[in-house]
Amino acid sequence: MVKVLPSSRAVNEGTGVDQASHNLKRCYVAERELMRTLAAWFVDTSQWDLKRQLANDMWQTSRHADMLRTRILELRYPRRDVDKKYDADVLAWTGEFARAANTEEFVAGIYGAVLPELVRAYSDYLDQTDDLDDAPTVYILRHIISDKQAQIERMQKLASEIAPTLFGANHGWTIYLSDYVTIIGGVSGDGEKVEKPTSQANRPAYAIQRQVNRDARWRSTLFHLPHENKYDVEGRQAWQRIEKLDKRVAMQVWSAISHFNEIWAAEVVAASMWDFANETWEFYLDLARWAWDETRHSTMGYRALQGWGWDVPDLIPWGNAMYNAMGPMPPIQRLALLYFYEEGLLRAGTKQIEIKILESAQDDGSVQDMDFDWADEAIHVSYGFRWLRHLLGDDSAGKEELKRLTDEARAIHAKFVADHKDDPEAKLAPYFNRLHDIIAQMIHDIPDDGLDIQWAPVVADEEVLKAL
Ligand SMILES: [Fe+2]
Ligand SMILES: [Fe+2]
Repeated sequence: MVKVLPSSRAVNEGTGVDQASHNLKRCYVAERELMRTLAAWFVDTSQWDLKRQLANDMWQTSRHADMLRTRILELRYPRRDVDKKYDADVLAWTGEFARAANTEEFVAGIYGAVLPELVRAYSDYLDQTDDLDDAPTVYILRHIISDKQAQIERMQKLASEIAPTLFGANHGWTIYLSDYVTIIGGVSGDGEKVEKPTSQANRPAYAIQRQVNRDARWRSTLFHLPHENKYDVEGRQAWQRIEKLDKRVAMQVWSAISHFNEIWAAEVVAASMWDFANETWEFYLDLARWAWDETRHSTMGYRALQGWGWDVPDLIPWGNAMYNAMGPMPPIQRLALLYFYEEGLLRAGTKQIEIKILESAQDDGSVQDMDFDWADEAIHVSYGFRWLRHLLGDDSAGKEELKRLTDEARAIHAKFVADHKDDPEAKLAPYFNRLHDIIAQMIHDIPDDGLDIQWAPVVADEEVLKAL
């Protein structure tokens, strides 16, 4: 016999450091794979309201995964293991997420089953853990739960407007994804594993689309501004009529249309998050932010165009050529081409010129959009620089390969433009003719500030413009 004091307090079973890190790692893996799946289905979703919601939630999910990962490492978790030996049960569950038949089913499954199951797992964890001993986890999980509940509410509201039957109680796919959690003993793995019939099992593997479609409310259009297609002479002339109204007016309209169409950049980056399945964690964290930023830039343009009271689907070209021309390219080549464009625009000082002209137009909204866009773009260039070096190597062979990939990508893109130059969808004149008349009726006089900047259209590809 030995002598001891009674225990100072009772503790719940399975709430120590080892169990906590084990449970949280399962949740991290689930969040990480959820993030990649949201990125892929963001690309494959055409409905604009759903699409930008998916991008927002994908980025928040990257923050959730990152917070969990950081916390796991604090819990005496060997760094070398946090991204190794992912739980096979969790991977089996998350591997099903993408196998939805269409956007509606995907949204129903994620927001009707996966997010509620994650919220349940975090709530159960909070019920069990010690608020004092495990306070940092408590803080993180409360924040994650709050984000996820807001995501579910926003998507339910959107769905009620777009597809009222989306969250029907008896949706087979939703029930399947929810039932699957009991098969794996709960997200955190604390529950008993129960075998249940898997009615939706054995669906074919998911493959991300190499061709995107735009929202059905818009006309099908390849390009959005005349510099993209040197063959479209009527389109360029129609645009020049808008330029003649005033270079300030032209910049206001150009920057809004251009921003709106940056969705292609988001799609390129998000597709890479799916295509590269086993990269280091910071790769996904950076690309998630990059893809979300580009969706924000697209939304900035959409908001500006709506702000002028325009019927955006009727008036504004929303092209798909940028992403679709890249269809045959390997993922790394798409990233190389995007980096080439972004780095070139920043190096040319284009943003400063655009902001000066927008200030001269006294368009405070567009100035602020462009100012924040500029801040984001500087980060993107650093992402591109870092991750292309990571993927290609930081030696002269890597640099040569980057140049080769970029040159080849530009040639593929130029061929795509040439191949499609006579398509009816390649013609922009009808858009700019309609817009011209609407703009001409809306413009008003302000004092001339003598702005002395000659503005040429944004140079996306200098070689293409040289040939004009
Ligand atoms: Fe952008
Ligand atoms: Fe960017």
